[in-house]
Amino acid sequence: MKSESVLAPEEKEVDVNIGAVLRPKTWAEFVGQKLVVQQLKTAISAAKDREELPEHILFTATPGTGKTTLGKIVASELGAKPVQILGANLSPQDAYNALLQTDNTSHVIIVDELMKLKVGVATMLNLALEDYELPALSSQQSTRYYGRGLSRFLFIGSTTDFGSLPAALRDRFTYIFPLSLYLPSELAEIVRHSAKKLEVEIQPKVSGIIGSVARGTPRIANRILKRLRDYTSSLDEAGTWKHLEDIGIDRHGLDTWDRRYLGMIKARYGGGPVSLTTIAGSLGETTDTVQNVYEPFLVREGYVYITGRGRVLDRAKPF
Ligand SMILES: Nc1ncnc2c1ncn2[C@@H]1O[C@H](COP(=O)(O)OP(=O)(O)OP(=O)(O)O)[C@@H](O)[C@H]1O
Ligand SMILES: [Mg+2]
Repeated sequence: MKSESVLAPEEKEVDVNIGAVLRPKTWAEFVGQKLVVQQLKTAISAAKDREELPEHILFTATPGTGKTTLGKIVASELGAKPVQILGANLSPQDAYNALLQTDNTSHVIIVDELMKLKVGVATMLNLALEDYELPALSSQQSTRYYGRGLSRFLFIGSTTDFGSLPAALRDRFTYIFPLSLYLPSELAEIVRHSAKKLEVEIQPKVSGIIGSVARGTPRIANRILKRLRDYTSSLDEAGTWKHLEDIGIDRHGLDTWDRRYLGMIKARYGGGPVSLTTIAGSLGETTDTVQNVYEPFLVREGYVYITGRGRVLDRAKPF
């Protein structure tokens, strides 16, 4: 499956295991996103001057680009130990408990994957975020808690799909920060820091190579480094290209699945135009997977164009 690729941005087991070691914990360690960092610092220091918490913050960006990392740094700058929860599968009871905790343990709550919130939970949060009131969970509890005021808290949300958030929830955020993909040079810097932490020796050119094939995404850059260190604890340029090939990444930064997609359109359909349905059928995938998993990178990089008549390969591209 394409989602198994080393170059897929979503979090995998391998990322979680070592994530805590590599995740930047301070502004100094956090590379790139200069404008966002600057605005966050301003918001934090202004709030501190007012002896308040900053207004709610939302990060929106593709997976693995630093949303959770930034949320945790903000919490730490405020001296808070955040309550951290995932939007997916969050039950009303979990949301309720998390909101209660903001009263006792922490004044910062970080919720990832906001786009996966159930409608009922989003509605609960709407009330809590605006009026700092604990909504009713059930008729039984409503007598005890409905309308109970919460103390002020800072809600830090993140989403990979801003458009799918309910408008009412979007409106609760004063700060909305879209993160951009990282430059190869920024990714190279991240790889250099990570190599140090993982005690992998890398020649200067190697971090640049990894940065150039990591699709603008720190998580992918770190994952590649971790995969390469399985081969050796000391990476030089030639060895790096060879090991990248071993894990399915070529010199253009394409993986096995990209080559299958491009190769199929070229060989069977003369480079297109060919419809999404036909491509999905030929690859044995759903149209959703082709559109959301195979194509974003290839379209962004200009390997393929989406036209009214179907997908067309760019013949000038090195494939
Ligand atoms: N700006 C950065 N500087 C250094 N390392 C970074 C940066 N951004 C992300 N990372 C690294 O990438 C990993 C993934 O980042 P993070 O978990 O913050 O992504 P995310 O945007 O929350 O992803 P998801 O959408 O899957 O929740 C982190 O553990 C960290 O090691
Ligand atoms: Mg996250």
